[in-house]
Amino acid sequence: MKAAANREVGEMEYLMDLRLWIRKLEEIGKLKKIRGANWDLEIGTLWDIIGSEPDPSSALFSEIPGYPPEYAVLINPQNSQRISALASGMTEEESVLPPIEYVRALKSRMKRIRSQPRILPRIVQDAPFMENVDEAEKIDLYKFPAPRWNEADGGELEARYLGTGCVCITRDPDSGVANLGIYRVMIHDKNLLGLYMSPNKDGMTNMRKHHATGKPMPIAVTFGQDLVTYWAAEHKHPHAESEYEYAGGIRQKPVEVVTGRHTGLPIPASAEIVVEGFVMPNELRDEGPFGEWVGYYSSGTKPEPVIRVKSVMFRDNPIIFGHPHLRAEVVGMPWRWAAAVWNRLEACGVPDVRGVWAYGQLWTVVAIRQRYPGHARQAGIIAAQTKPGSVGARFTLVVDDDIDPSDSQAVLWAMGTRMNPVEDIQIMRRSWSSSIDPMVPPGTPSEACFTSRAVFDACRPFEWKDNFPQATGPSPELRQRTYEKWKSILG
Ligand SMILES: Cc1cc2nc3c(=O)[nH]c(=O)nc-3n(C[C@H](O)[C@H](O)[C@H](O)COP(=O)(O)O)c2cc1C
Repeated sequence: MKAAANREVGEMEYLMDLRLWIRKLEEIGKLKKIRGANWDLEIGTLWDIIGSEPDPSSALFSEIPGYPPEYAVLINPQNSQRISALASGMTEEESVLPPIEYVRALKSRMKRIRSQPRILPRIVQDAPFMENVDEAEKIDLYKFPAPRWNEADGGELEARYLGTGCVCITRDPDSGVANLGIYRVMIHDKNLLGLYMSPNKDGMTNMRKHHATGKPMPIAVTFGQDLVTYWAAEHKHPHAESEYEYAGGIRQKPVEVVTGRHTGLPIPASAEIVVEGFVMPNELRDEGPFGEWVGYYSSGTKPEPVIRVKSVMFRDNPIIFGHPHLRAEVVGMPWRWAAAVWNRLEACGVPDVRGVWAYGQLWTVVAIRQRYPGHARQAGIIAAQTKPGSVGARFTLVVDDDIDPSDSQAVLWAMGTRMNPVEDIQIMRRSWSSSIDPMVPPGTPSEACFTSRAVFDACRPFEWKDNFPQATGPSPELRQRTYEKWKSILG
């Protein structure tokens, strides 16, 4: 019992402090320390190489030329199940489960967290980021080694993105609820930042509300923070709900926040670098393109809001938390998405979901034990329109439960043998999209970004499923028995 209690404390500790997380990564041998790489394309390209390895390590870049040696950039891979699991507060044992079993365990944890009472943040007076405070003339955002991640970032502007894994804090002026969201942040000038929020984001709603009354929107952005706050910000919560309360639920204790001197916004005490500022009405500047998670520079260059920076606070030797996107990750990052879709299907009353997998955020696969006519279509259509199942996914597949949805070969086999395209592909038109979508024609205004979605019903036809030809291959029992007998020769 005692050991379990100690372990729980340890887990929660590293979730709440980025520097303890770095120590944890080192302990488990999943941290590459790289000294001397240049901020200008070298960090981004090295990450492309490291992050594309199977089960990659995290990378900590320091001694970046032109900067104090301890100023650092940390990047966590989104395609390492082990790292993603530990960063989600799962145990070591859970972190190495087979993929679908791991998604099942994560889904249960996420459901437990959702059902827990929310815990309000607690205001504290002091935080490490108050070690250094720059205001007025002293503000210089170029004092941090923000990488130029990709060759075409910012187009001719050759922009540096300080914010890739940053948390943007805004407030709804009507309800007073503070919102956390991850929106990319580009440096325009030493005291001016560019912000890209797609139209359905809470930060955008809050901005529109402030600007409708002619007022600037106060905003605080943290560039490096604890993992729980980051996780809460990454998730879509109902607008009326604060991510801080959700993060408190995960931590089982309040998130400690400092009240921003200029904005009055609650800022997580764990932050490494904090910017406070204002988004002015009608002030736009060209932003982008940026190498986005879909694997394209798809949002192009467009006028987007800017942040006029009033203060910059940072810890001694600050660490930027980077979350650049890799094409390799288009098929990575599946666990949280899959678990979230699974939970939402269950919340909608879809029975007998046996597994969910997400090929990145582009394809969702749901496995069910078919119970009644229309069950497969119901699962597919609902999954395709849940928020986590529709962020990028144009295609949702439903398979029978003899198919492991994380096994792409098995999924393709089911598609090729159990589908009659004329019957089994259902199209949903005018579904939501964004300008990140490479299939949205260039120049389309945000309000007109639509896509269609398709559900592929790759289950055996319900009405004759019991007469469907028997699949070849040995039964799992015979296979296992034979393997056990011959394994010394098979190796
Ligand atoms: C690494 C990363 C980068 C992201 N970048 C952006 C972005 O630039 N703009 C955007 O609108 N959403 C972006 N998102 C998605 C939002 O952060 C996410 O949808 C979040 O739930 C939004 O919160 P909100 O609904 O409270 O606005 C990003 C997410 C991640 C994980």
